[in-house]
Parts: sequence; structure tokens; C-alpha cells
Amino acid sequence: MKELIQKLKKEHTLSKAEWTELFTHRSQQTGEYLAEEARAVSRKIFGNRIYTRGLIEFTNYCKNDCYYCGIRKSNRNVSRYRLTEAQILECCESGYELGFRTFVLQGGEDGYFTDEKMLLIIRKIKERYPDCALTLSLGERSKKSYEAFYQAGADRYLLRHETADCGHYRKLHPAELSLENRMDCLRQLKEIGYQTGTGFMVGSPGQGAEQLAEDMLFIRSLNPQMVGIGPFVPHHDTPFAKEKGGTVELTLYCISLLRLMLPNALLPATTALGTIVPDGRERGILAGANVVMPNLSPVGVRKKYELYDNKICTGEEAAECRNCLQSRMQSIGYELAVDRGDYKPPV
Ligand code: 5AD
Ligand code: FES
Repeated sequence: MKELIQKLKKEHTLSKAEWTELFTHRSQQTGEYLAEEARAVSRKIFGNRIYTRGLIEFTNYCKNDCYYCGIRKSNRNVSRYRLTEAQILECCESGYELGFRTFVLQGGEDGYFTDEKMLLIIRKIKERYPDCALTLSLGERSKKSYEAFYQAGADRYLLRHETADCGHYRKLHPAELSLENRMDCLRQLKEIGYQTGTGFMVGSPGQGAEQLAEDMLFIRSLNPQMVGIGPFVPHHDTPFAKEKGGTVELTLYCISLLRLMLPNALLPATTALGTIVPDGRERGILAGANVVMPNLSPVGVRKKYELYDNKICTGEEAAECRNCLQSRMQSIGYELAVDRGDYKPPV
């Protein structure tokens, strides 16, 4: 296993069989060795600075019905909300004061937010905060929309592929969604010039070593600037309510492998990871992650953006989350950076 890890570190690529072996024969010892290697790589590139992004969950309406997701359209128990433009700008304002220089607008696929509405919001934010990066996470849209948002000033786009195995994708999503379209969207986003993020859930129902190997191969070929992964966490009001969740160990293992495959990538230690164990995000950083994404949404709506059960940070103000994360990072020898934290390609 050590030889495979050294090969990955040197060549940044492996065959499907090699990836599958790494996932099939995972052990605690290999995980620890891998984390040390991955952490050394991120230390060398980013030092002890952790980039932060202020997350604004601006709508929990969604036209999709993904089997894993708590805000899927069939879930009648969700109290739906949309933030107004003024509320979104207030989130940015408090975020800016707290030192955030990246804002992430994330929402369900909500028809209310037409291109026209989004363009107004994007322009407003970029006009008021020209020194900040703006990330969108709005799901699948047309290439035309992606282009218009980019022209209006959006810098980055997050769209997880969720799984790169076609059959597995079918098990996680209703027929209206396709892996092919998802991958097309991702390639378009990159082509347009966005710093593009993809990612997947770790331990989603039906995922095994083969599926994870496909995820690594797809990510290698897309070569995104960001990769967000977190454990699958069951939500009680979804078809996957009774399924097992992903583990911390496997999630950390995947983070470390991603760091060795894409040394310069922006890799968040996600809220889902911090949800399944109290020190999940710290452990994510120690396994090679270099980004955290605290919540800037108004406290009144946070519980309503419940993608999975027991999501953390739903009762805290933006300032509390920021301070909490700052002390968590300091406790392991890292600092939060006041910086856009753009992707820098290897020299
Ligand atoms: N558990 C973990 N992650 C989830 N997501 C959605 N539902 C869940 C869940 N039950 C993730 C998806 C999506 C991102 C916004 O949240 O990967 O892309
Ligand atoms: Fe939100 Fe700790 S990061 S409370």
C-alpha cells in the first residue's frame, strides 16, 4: 500500500485497478500514513493558513427529488424559505466585517431565482464587494446561464457530481437527472473559466471500492480547482432514512487521496464531516483539507436548510461560527486567512 501511495504522490494518477485496491485494502495504519503524507503536501503549499468561505443558503426550494437529500421536493415537512436580495446583502455585510472574502450562494434548484434575478444579485454583490470572490452553487443550469453569471462577475461554481458511476447515480437520483448532464455542466463551467468545484458523498448507499475508484478517475480527468466531499448522513424524511451513513475514517482517507492526486486543489473540511464527529473538521484539515465554510445564513432559516439530520451550526450566529472555527483551527496549529483564497495552479 505504501508503494501505491508513493506512486500517487509522485505521478498524481493511478489506474482503476490501483484505486480499487487502495479502497479495498484500507486499514487504520494505511489511513494514518496517508494522512501524514497528505498533510505534509498541504503544509508545503498553503502553510498553516486555512481559507474560509461564508456560506449563504439562500433558498431551500428545490425542483429535484434526490433520494438522499432532506430538502427534496417530496419532503412536505420542510418549511420552505427564500432570502430576499436585501437579506442576502445583509449576510454579505456581516460576513465582510468578520473577515470573509469569499461568499458562496447556495440553494436548491429553485425556479423563482431566474437568470434575471440571479444577475441582479450577482452584480450587486460584486459592486459592493469588489475585493471578494463570489461562488455560486445553484445546481444544473444551461450553458447560457452559466456564461451570463460569469460575465456578471461570478468567479467560482460548485456542483458535486455525487458519484461517477452511472448505475450508482441512478440509485441516488430519480430518472429526470442524469450523470451525463451533470458531467456536461461541469465541463462547461470549467470551459467558461469558473474555478470549478465538484465532489461526492462518502458512504452513500450502493457505494463501494469500484464506485470510489470511478470518482477518483473522473476527478482526475476533470481536474477541478475544488473538490468538496463529506460523509453521507441519512435524513429521516427521505427514502434513505434507514440507510447507514458514511464513516469519518473513509472520508478522511478520500480527502488525503484527493490531496495527493491534486496537490493544489481547494479541499474543504465540510460541515457534514463536523456533524458525524465533534472534531471532524479538525481531522479533515489534518488529513489534507485546507478550506472551511462556516454558515452566514440568518439564524432564523438555518434549521430549514437541513440536507441531513443533526446538521451543526444551526443555532449559532455568523460571528459565533467564525470564532468557533478560529479556535478549532488554532487548537491544531492553523490560522484562518482573511483572503479570497483563489486557486493557484502548480508552478
Ligand atoms: N448527507 C450528506 N450530504 C448530503 N448532501 C445532500 N444530502 C446529503 C446527505 N443526506 C450533499 C450533496 C450536495 C451537497 C450540497 O450536499 O452532495 O451536493
Ligand atoms: Fe458553527 Fe462551531 S462552526 S458553531
